[in-house]
Amino acid sequence: MPVEVALGFVWVCLGANPPPPPSEVWAPVLEELAPYRFDELVPTQPLYLEEWAVDWKIAMDNYLESYHVPIGHPGLNRLFTPDYEDQRGIPGIARGISWMREAPSPRWSERVYQKHVAEVTAPHLPEAQRRSWRFYSCLPNLGIDIMPEQMDFFQVLPRGPGRCVIRGAAFGLPDERREMRLIRWLGNRINMQVNTEDRLLCERLQRGLRDSAYRPGPLSQIETWMLEFHDLLRARIPEVSLPHPPARLA
Ligand SMILES: [Fe+2]
Repeated sequence: MPVEVALGFVWVCLGANPPPPPSEVWAPVLEELAPYRFDELVPTQPLYLEEWAVDWKIAMDNYLESYHVPIGHPGLNRLFTPDYEDQRGIPGIARGISWMREAPSPRWSERVYQKHVAEVTAPHLPEAQRRSWRFYSCLPNLGIDIMPEQMDFFQVLPRGPGRCVIRGAAFGLPDERREMRLIRWLGNRINMQVNTEDRLLCERLQRGLRDSAYRPGPLSQIETWMLEFHDLLRARIPEVSLPHPPARLA
């Protein structure tokens, strides 16, 4: 059974034909992840399981584009600029980096986080990483979010038509300072709101699939990673291909 330790996680493949090893898939971004010292992290929150009333593909689609952020995540948009830096040319991994705004948020909890996160994480992180959130999605169903004060992973697990489970956990460097506990609490508060918003967006989208007005995408050229995801699904599960697929955007 193929097993590998990479990025501080133990990766186990139960399938007969293992995909390329994680250390190879993630190799193009290992250098930028190094300052976060994944190998030294400890759990900051217990593992969680959340049932979503959506197809797993819908949930994963949501994590593969960031242009829904200004509309779908007002809190995140108050804190971060919408010009997510997407890096292309990393096969199998979608990356978004967002930078904290200078203008203070009108919400007190966001404003406290915004004001203090850089100084609280200064002992651990180089300057450039202290004011950015980074989102990595690895096809077909894994996400890694990196904040200055902690990181989390999540998996989107299929549970049948219209049902999936989100399984994840958060980790941080050992640090019991009161100010770090506060920053992690505030960061979690922001993140939990984003998670709730994503769930509602996906459930609405799931309901929309049953509408007679529904037409499949792609809707935009910036759905690059969704297109790669859908190509992967069609390659692995030919039955999902439409007899007359919509035209691809140039
Ligand atoms: Fe989202």
